[in-house]
Amino acid sequence: MPNIDPKKLPKHVAIIMDGNGRWAKKRGINRVRGHQKGADTVREIVRTSREIGVKWLTLYAFSEENWKRSKIEIQALMKLLKRFVKSELEEMLENGIRLNAIGRIEKLPEDTKKALFDVIEKTSTNKDMVLTLALSYGGRQEIFDAFKKIGTRIEKGDLKADDISEQLISNSLYTAGMPDPDLLIRTSGESRISNFLLYQIAYTEIHITSTLWPDFGKEEYLAAILDFQERERRFGATSSRE
Ligand code: FPP
Repeated sequence: MPNIDPKKLPKHVAIIMDGNGRWAKKRGINRVRGHQKGADTVREIVRTSREIGVKWLTLYAFSEENWKRSKIEIQALMKLLKRFVKSELEEMLENGIRLNAIGRIEKLPEDTKKALFDVIEKTSTNKDMVLTLALSYGGRQEIFDAFKKIGTRIEKGDLKADDISEQLISNSLYTAGMPDPDLLIRTSGESRISNFLLYQIAYTEIHITSTLWPDFGKEEYLAAILDFQERERRFGATSSRE
């Protein structure tokens, strides 16, 4: 790992994995093959994160908007996800990786949910890294759900409007207990946030690459981390260099 400074690692990396469809189209093959190749990239990025010491990795694997895709593509993605969590269990246990999921998970098909909850449960005591899959996830829906939670507590008399704080909002999101992402990577060249972690990315550094997700590998991931390490994060304050 040349040049990576272990003291300046992003604690939490979030990734918008985009471009599986375009990768397949370029080769004249079915979109689903692009997702399958994308799952291999997921494996490589999880391994690399663990190897270099990134503690939190959050992947946008299925958005709320993705339910609008064809039934065939949705079914293929759900099957792929089920197979992926099952096949990775052993390696996750060996490497101290805990699986976590955020989003409206209740909307997933029963068999996918079952496989997911099984691996979440079996890895629940792992402490070295947390892999979070955002599934049926939307940032606005997350904020909406948090408002409802807070509103219900106020209605019940557990909470007063005056008790609402940034911390309370953070703790009411799906990501409660997780640090905010330090680095957000988006593949395939689009400069959009696409409803991902809207509240959490207030001070996150953004790295966009034109590489399509199935072609994104260890080398480019390390380059993105190096790029992050070369930036100066100010969180709204003035520069220490001034
Ligand atoms: C975006 O590509 C990707 C997705 C909608 C799903 C991401 C899924 C994977 C990477 C594979 C399975 C995931 C796991 C965790 C095993 P796109 O289809 O929008 O690409 P396009 O914009 O080129 O059409």
